[in-house]
Amino acid sequence: MKRGSFKKTILITGGAGFIGSHLVRHLVKRYPDYMIINLDKLTYAGNLSNLKDVEHCANYRFVRGDIVDQPFVSDLFDQIPLDGVIHLAAESHVDRSIVSPDDFIRTNITGTFNLLHAAKTHWHGTTGGKLFYHVSTDEVYGTLGPEGSFTEQSPYDPRSPYSASKASSDHLVRAYFHTYGLPVTLSNCSNNFGPFQFPEKLIPLVINNIRNMKPIPVYGKGENVRDWLYVEDHVAAIDLLFHQGRRGQTYNIGGGNEWRNIDLVRLICRLSDGILGRTPGSSEKLITFVTDRPGHDLRYAIDAGKLRKELGWSPAREFEKALDATIRWYLENDEWLNSVTSGEYQKYYTEQYSGLKKDSSGE
Ligand code: NAD
Ligand code: DAU
Repeated sequence: MKRGSFKKTILITGGAGFIGSHLVRHLVKRYPDYMIINLDKLTYAGNLSNLKDVEHCANYRFVRGDIVDQPFVSDLFDQIPLDGVIHLAAESHVDRSIVSPDDFIRTNITGTFNLLHAAKTHWHGTTGGKLFYHVSTDEVYGTLGPEGSFTEQSPYDPRSPYSASKASSDHLVRAYFHTYGLPVTLSNCSNNFGPFQFPEKLIPLVINNIRNMKPIPVYGKGENVRDWLYVEDHVAAIDLLFHQGRRGQTYNIGGGNEWRNIDLVRLICRLSDGILGRTPGSSEKLITFVTDRPGHDLRYAIDAGKLRKELGWSPAREFEKALDATIRWYLENDEWLNSVTSGEYQKYYTEQYSGLKKDSSGE
């Protein structure tokens, strides 16, 4: 492929997934002088209909492929002179990693290694201006008690196969910086929400179950705490860090917006009742406390002070407004929701939730 008239060619891995599709759309629209290549295997979590509005743009191209396939990754770097990689492709759901960790090890560790190796080999001696940007998670830091928050200095303490595989990939990325001088930047972000998130994750799952008047499964007592960030705010941070982040540095990204799961689920119920014109309190009756997730991290909270101080980033969206807009998006886009919840999803849902016992110890 010729560089043509584009200023930069950037490879986004996992661009058909939730965060990746928002990032691809953002970059394609904001930087018409960049060629954006979306490399995605299209697993159950990848969906090209997430990108319908940009698929015909002159500065966008989709390549289907598996980052675990080393010769494929190497060929891609041979064929396309890349200025940057923003690496999001991953197996991303904790519950799936508990049931079958194999793909998490392959994609998140071996896949990341293949990309690093290809970048090192192909960029050798010409790393000026190039960047391997690795998108990671706050889950690598483990779990918090009631006080404090994760900083970039927090020790790694992953506790699920998912977070352990992401931690391994982070270590590999830093090793390539220190050992080979590969220009890298990393970020570790808290829980994202917004349109196009696969409804195995808490927020879209709750909305989908409210829509279908199905029980809402809350693990344990619903006391676990997550720090929620609207996906577009994460994308804005990635854009900023890709262009201005320091090489070899890690940046935490988070909303400063902690919610106990049960409080968040109740808020979604209240907002949904209003949007759907249902009797107030009717969705809350669907809440069902079920067997807890094994090794369930109690609390995540991110200190994003470094990113704020260095680059002036802070979340732009007010949480409740963004949540309300997100609920409306899922309810209005029932075609999307129906298409992703047919087939494989039904099997997953039955296997994941039918074995869970009702837990009357919940509130
Ligand atoms: P997602 O599961 O929605 O999307 C993952 C994408 O990667 C899919 O399009 C899938 O097809 C693709 N993919 C999976 N295996 C692949 C392979 N072997 N080769 C090529 N493509 C493959 O995930 P997401 O929620 O959008 O997360 C994206 C990234 O951000 C992940 O690295 C995740 O660890 C990280 N992250 C997510 C969150 C969150 O709250 N969702 C928060 C912090 C960090
Ligand atoms: O913190 C960042 C991470 O956030 C990302 O790295 C992961 O890719 C992403 O999946 C997310 O992980 P969580 O495990 O926090 O997200 P999930 O939506 O699966 O769960 C959020 C909380 O809700 C968690 O405490 C478990 C709970 N939960 C989840 C589901 C699916 C329930 O109570 N019931 C459920 O059915």
